[in-house]
Amino acid sequence: MNTILNMKDIVKTYRMGDEEQRVLNEINFNVEQGEFVTILGPSGSGKSTLMNIIGCLDVPTSGNYDLNGNDVAHMDEETLSEVRNREIGFIFQQFQLLPRLSALDNVELPLIYAGVSEKERKQRAKAMLEKVGLGTKLKNKPNQLSGGQQQRVAIARALITQPTILLADEPTGALDQKTGVQIMELFQELHAEGKTIVMITHDEKIARHGSRIVKILDGTLTEYRQEDEQHG
Ligand SMILES: Nc1ncnc2c1ncn2[C@@H]1O[C@H](COP(=O)(O)OP(=O)(O)OP(=O)(O)O)[C@@H](O)[C@H]1O
Ligand SMILES: [Mg+2]
Repeated sequence: MNTILNMKDIVKTYRMGDEEQRVLNEINFNVEQGEFVTILGPSGSGKSTLMNIIGCLDVPTSGNYDLNGNDVAHMDEETLSEVRNREIGFIFQQFQLLPRLSALDNVELPLIYAGVSEKERKQRAKAMLEKVGLGTKLKNKPNQLSGGQQQRVAIARALITQPTILLADEPTGALDQKTGVQIMELFQELHAEGKTIVMITHDEKIARHGSRIVKILDGTLTEYRQEDEQHG
């Protein structure tokens, strides 16, 4: 087994005036290559705080975090952003596509930053959109696509740089139930192909599409047990 993500005793505290609030409480969390892990927790439990640390958008107050061989708990901002661009593909609730750009141009964008030639960019972006089922919508702008289609564009954009981890924060939160399930089916296909996925959600039904669930409550992470399913 190849451990891609290894968090040890991760603590995050916020200081509000005189008071210190511990938002993440000694989190120990591992993800192996090829896993599809979902993190399930209610509002205010610390999901976004944890996601920001997993995704190298923020650093913990204390603890260790190894991401694919990078010591990301102790990095300056510039190095952290290099690691982030290389290792993480982000998917958000609100898609976060650029409204003036076509689907193809949105997916191509990360490859421009990566210095890939125009010809290769176009080929790769087109192939990725075909893969997510949008081969006929290359020229559509985001407002000419349904919510589910926009999320597929965002998934193609996240995949285009071949990141180590796909990191999704409530990816079905802005979609109706049926469309949300379709997006989960796409995640399951990607998982079957060997992609490593970490997904955050407050929705237990959505969380069950993963191959492993962990729960977060008041900043404490626990494994999801069979009893939780029966009684919760
Ligand atoms: N920058 C900050 N400064 C102070 N407190 C913060 C900060 N960010 C988050 N918190 C606090 O940390 C706790 C967890 O917040 P977080 O955003 O991680 O929750 P969440 O699980 O993502 O909730 P939701 O499902 O509503 O998005 C909350 O009590 C919040 O008030
Ligand atoms: Mg949140």
